[in-house]
Amino acid sequence: MQEQAVLVEIQGGIGRVTINRPKALNALNTATLRALRGAIDDLAANEELRCVVLTGAGDKSFVAGADIAEMASMRPQAARRFAALGHETFDALEALPVPVIAAVNGYCLGGGCELALACDMVFAHEKARFGQPEVDLGLIPGFGGTQRLARRVGAMRATELVLTGRHVLAAEAKAIGLCLDVFAVDDLLPRALDVATTIAAKGPVAVRLAKRVMRAGLDAPLVSGNALEREAFAALFDAEDAREGMAAFVEKRKPAFRNA
Ligand code: CAA
Repeated sequence: MQEQAVLVEIQGGIGRVTINRPKALNALNTATLRALRGAIDDLAANEELRCVVLTGAGDKSFVAGADIAEMASMRPQAARRFAALGHETFDALEALPVPVIAAVNGYCLGGGCELALACDMVFAHEKARFGQPEVDLGLIPGFGGTQRLARRVGAMRATELVLTGRHVLAAEAKAIGLCLDVFAVDDLLPRALDVATTIAAKGPVAVRLAKRVMRAGLDAPLVSGNALEREAFAALFDAEDAREGMAAFVEKRKPAFRNA
C-alpha cells in the first residue's frame, strides 16, 4: 500500500499535520500538495478544531522545497498549474479559521520556507535551516516566497535571501523574525504542542476572530484594519463565550467556554 503523503491526527482540538515523504526530505510534488489541500479543507470544516501544528516526517527535514525532479520536465503551462496549486494550497492554509503553528524540524527550503511563511507562528529546532535557494536552480520562489518573505522579515532582508539563496541557520532565523523561537531537537514538537494547548484552552470564538482580523489587517491600511477590529470586538458581545469569560472573571472562577 502506498504511504499517505500527508498525515492528519486530531486530539483535544489540536490537529497535527505531517508532510510525509521523508525519503525525498518531504519535497512537495503535485500529489503531496493535493493531499495537503484536501487535509486543509477537512480541517477548515471542523468546528471543534482549535489549533493546528504542522511538521515534516523524519528527523532531517520540514520540507526541502518543491519537488525538483517533477519540475525538471515542466514547460510554462505545467509550471503555471504547479505554482497555482501551491498558491491555492498555501492561501487555504493561511485562511484556516484556527491558528497554524509550523514546527520546523530540519530543512525548510524553497517551497518549505514558503509553507512556513503561510503559517501564523513558526518554531524551529536548533538544526533547522531556512532559505529560498531557487536561484541556485535558475528559478525564483513560486509558492508565494517573493511576497510573504518580505512581509515577514522586511523587504531588504527578503531581497538578500531570495537573490543569494543562502541558508539561514536557526539562530539567525529567530533574529530576523523568520521563526519565533528555537528549541532543542527533542523539545520542538512538545513545545509547539504546548503553545497549541494553551491556545486551545482560550475562548474559541475569540481565537478564530482574532486570527481573522489580524490576518486581514496585515494586507489592509491601518484605518480599515481598525474598523475590522471594532466590528469583531462588538460582534463578540453577542457570543455566549464572551459573556461566560467576563462573568467567570467577575465571579472569580475558571470560564467554561462552549465554542458559542
Ligand atoms: N525535490 C526533490 N527531491 C529532493 C528535494 C527536492 N526539493 N530535496 C531533496 N530531495 C531528495 C534528494 O534528491 C535525495 O533523493 P535520493 O535519495 O533519491 O537521491 C533525498 O531527497 C535526500 O536528499 P540529499 O541526498 O540531497 O540530502 P543531503 O542531506 O545531502 O542534502 C539538501 C539536503 C541540502 C536539503 C539538498 O537535498 C537540497 O539542496 N535539496 C534541494 C533544496 C532546494 O533547492 N529547494 C528549493 C526547491 S525549488 C522550489 O521550492 C520552488 C518553489 O518555490 C515552488
